[in-house]
Amino acid sequence: MNRPTSPKAAGSRSVDEITEGRRLRRMRKAPWSRRLVQENRLTVDDLIWPIFPTAGKNVREPIAAMPGVFRLSVDAAVKEAKRAAKLGIPAIATFPNIDGTLKDVTGSHILDPDNLINQATRAIKAAVPEIGIITDAALDPFTSHGHDGILRDGVIVNDETVEQVTAAAVLQAAAGADIIAPSDMMDGRIGAIRDALDANGFQDVAIMSYATKFASAFYGPYREAIGTAGLLKGDKKTYYLDPANTDEAMREIEQDIAEGADMIMVKPGLPYLDIIRRAKDEFAMPTFAYQVSGEYSMIKAASANGWIDGERAMLESLLAFKRAGCDGILTYFAAEVAELLSK
Ligand code: PBG
Repeated sequence: MNRPTSPKAAGSRSVDEITEGRRLRRMRKAPWSRRLVQENRLTVDDLIWPIFPTAGKNVREPIAAMPGVFRLSVDAAVKEAKRAAKLGIPAIATFPNIDGTLKDVTGSHILDPDNLINQATRAIKAAVPEIGIITDAALDPFTSHGHDGILRDGVIVNDETVEQVTAAAVLQAAAGADIIAPSDMMDGRIGAIRDALDANGFQDVAIMSYATKFASAFYGPYREAIGTAGLLKGDKKTYYLDPANTDEAMREIEQDIAEGADMIMVKPGLPYLDIIRRAKDEFAMPTFAYQVSGEYSMIKAASANGWIDGERAMLESLLAFKRAGCDGILTYFAAEVAELLSK
């Protein structure tokens, strides 16, 4: 190969000739001009805060795999809901840490009108009526095997699960939930929940569908948070989506909209920005992302090691969701970032 012995510093054309006078850096020259042309912004209105209710009183139990996140007894959850409302966070989402003695193969405790999730909803609604409450109608916190469905002979049975999840959704609405967000990915659940809510007088309770929930490795820390980590046998690939599939994700969304979903969600978040953008472009629905536990913990862990600037990584990751087309984000950073934005 012929290597030039003394490469020329520049070619014969000037930069202005190359760009034909266009200088894309012009608008980046100062903070004021960068502010002026900024296309997307993260505000407190974009945030949904997932929290983990647990049994007891005055409990704030750290979750080792999620630094800065705590399991909260209902009274402590009420305090946090007050703080969230003061910060302007529109809504919280509850994921209960159910005592092991209450779990069974069908997750029957989800049908107790006074279970932890419904207690938390009632208490928060009573104390902080101005904040939206989103409840998950999935079975996994309640089953002894950690699956989101009823398990019979090694198979997650769809229709029986839908029946149970639907009954749970009605109880959650009765407790005061504003949005039911079923995260189980069973076929037909959205339509069944819509019918049951309407039949019970809950026409104004909305449904946020976990329309595209992928069989992901990024849920690990969450399973520690709700105590299902050691329970889960096998995986969730017969009901969650294959991370390789985009078209199938669109079909899931289309189906859930047809069945009556008011809002759709993509989960996990950052590894699936392409799904968010395509969903927003194709369906023009209120579109949300769940920045899941593993995404949160990666930022926290790298930041704790001094490998990245945690605050900047948090803000950048959340802004990415806005750029991809999200109307809002479920994130464990919600309170932290809301405090930062209020400064
Ligand atoms: C299950 C459920 C999951 C999450 C919330 N509800 C996934 C799972 O355990 O399989 C994950 C949330 C997170 O990782 O932050 N219905």
